Amino acid sequence: MFWTAVFILPVMTKHTIIAIDGPAASGKGTLARKLAAHLDFAYLDTGTLYRYVGLHVLKSEKNPSDETSAVAAAQSLSAALKLEDLQNPALRTDAAGQAASEVGKFQAVRDALLQFQKDFAHTPQAGKKGVILDGRDIGTVICPDADVKLFVTASVEERASRRLKELESKQIAADFETVLADMKRRDERDSGREAAPLKAADDAHILDTSTMSAEDAFSEALSIIQKSL
Ligand code: CDP
Repeated sequence: MFWTAVFILPVMTKHTIIAIDGPAASGKGTLARKLAAHLDFAYLDTGTLYRYVGLHVLKSEKNPSDETSAVAAAQSLSAALKLEDLQNPALRTDAAGQAASEVGKFQAVRDALLQFQKDFAHTPQAGKKGVILDGRDIGTVICPDADVKLFVTASVEERASRRLKELESKQIAADFETVLADMKRRDERDSGREAAPLKAADDAHILDTSTMSAEDAFSEALSIIQKSL
């Protein structure tokens, strides 16, 4: 009894960090949210941080690809950043997503947002057993020490068709070719940039969801996590 308690306790009380990275519309957000609910973990969608900065630059009628404007916004916003700031539905628009991808290419913007993400990852939240962060550089830069790293991907055509369905469900007019071209542009920017480019960490588990339903991806990810912990 005593020995069981000694050996099991450290495992049960450990604050677990799960890092999920992947390209746009790979399904990592849906997956991360489901896993967080199932495991009762806190969850941070780090894309919203870049969207928050990008949207702020757009609202100030500045260009998100102008480094001075992007860095100034990131530095001033990060000084008093709260989780509630990231709940604004306007952050989910495509314009905010494109602006996020523009501001995210500047190293000084990433530096300004780094501590918030690290604090979220390493501070146990009340009543939660761990955290899940999703983004582009969680396993490589933000939490290289994560307990489990997943890299969720899918073919660009499949991701474009998922994004199209999402837009249609919101009654936003779009066509496949335009969505595909946007997706390729975003991939190029996210993977080709010098600052924290999108790439799988060497120790990440690759989950290609091209032919998987959201439920299949969830079961597969959960099984990877359970085997790893
Ligand atoms: O939901 P979706 O995958 O379309 O986008 P998102 O995860 O909200 O991220 C929007 C943009 O922010 C991405 O295209 C990235 O350029 C940038 N981003 C980043 O650079 N690093 C992160 N950790 C998360 C997002």
